[in-house]
Amino acid sequence: MRYVLLTGGAGFIGSHTCVEVMAAGWTPVVVDNLANSSAAVLDRIQTIAGRRPAFEEADIRDRDALDRVFRKHAIDAVLHFAGLKSVAESVADPRSYYDNNIVGTLTLTEVMQQHGVTRIVFSSSATVYEPTEAMPLVEDARLGPVNPYGRSKWMTEQILRDIAAADRRWQVLLLRYFNPVGAHESGLIGEDPAGTPNNLMPFVAQVAVGRRDQGLRPLVGVVEAAFRRDRGHHADQGGAPGGQDRGQSRVARRGELQLQPGEEDVTLGEPAQEHA
Ligand SMILES: NC(=O)c1ccc[n+]([C@@H]2O[C@H](COP(=O)([O-])OP(=O)(O)OC[C@H]3O[C@@H](n4cnc5c(N)ncnc54)[C@H](O)[C@@H]3O)[C@@H](O)[C@H]2O)c1
Repeated sequence: MRYVLLTGGAGFIGSHTCVEVMAAGWTPVVVDNLANSSAAVLDRIQTIAGRRPAFEEADIRDRDALDRVFRKHAIDAVLHFAGLKSVAESVADPRSYYDNNIVGTLTLTEVMQQHGVTRIVFSSSATVYEPTEAMPLVEDARLGPVNPYGRSKWMTEQILRDIAAADRRWQVLLLRYFNPVGAHESGLIGEDPAGTPNNLMPFVAQVAVGRRDQGLRPLVGVVEAAFRRDRGHHADQGGAPGGQDRGQSRVARRGELQLQPGEEDVTLGEPAQEHA
């Protein structure tokens, strides 16, 4: 049995990936502090997958808690989704973003190293790219984040590159997402943030179901534009045959984490003007 640790596995992308990881025959272990998610997601994953993922409620900055997780489960690889992700919040409170996203990753990689686990997929962001009119963006486009959230992702990428350069046992994959949207086809899991949504689709969805009564009109044009761009369904990114998603297909479609020594960048989804 192969075990994969999903940090932030109760969140939007993490929960969908958890389902795909299980479908691929891996055993997931979810670590999440539930800062932006709910433990109810685990029940829903169980309903979809027929098995309940192991869950440890912990903060990735808590070294002792992480150490206990690695002692308890024979982790083979880590999918690292845990992080704060609001650009606006990061501008207002940069320290909490650097602490959560960078210190969290430093602590995680330190505990991984102590336990001989050296394979990690990092959930980075399109915010690491320099804003540009030249579309579509490509992986070697200039990097140049313009807000603390983006810089926390960029710095974390550099840290992981340096770790991989210093010790060739490390295998690092950096995934840069552009506004992933959608939900699992069962409708049981989707994007359901704890507070005011930071992304477009949950905002629209909350207006649609009456949880939020304003703000829809200015967003309609944006949503229409998004659909015209014919973006992929989020769940499809996890491994539907023919999906364009190179990164996740390695994880989910082949049922393997086939990483190269060193580090590699993969951009997911169709690059858009409005980075996430
Ligand atoms: N959704 C997007 O549009 C998008 C775009 C680009 C990158 N990303 C990145 O992908 C990752 C996942 O995004 P998401 O949309 O699923 O977000 P999300 O908020 O739904 O999921 C993140 C999860 O991490 C948990 N978490 C946060 N800090 C933690 C900590 N210190 N310790 C343990 N758990 C912690 C949260 O409770 C949450 O469940 C994030 O790192 C985000 O920056 C997301």
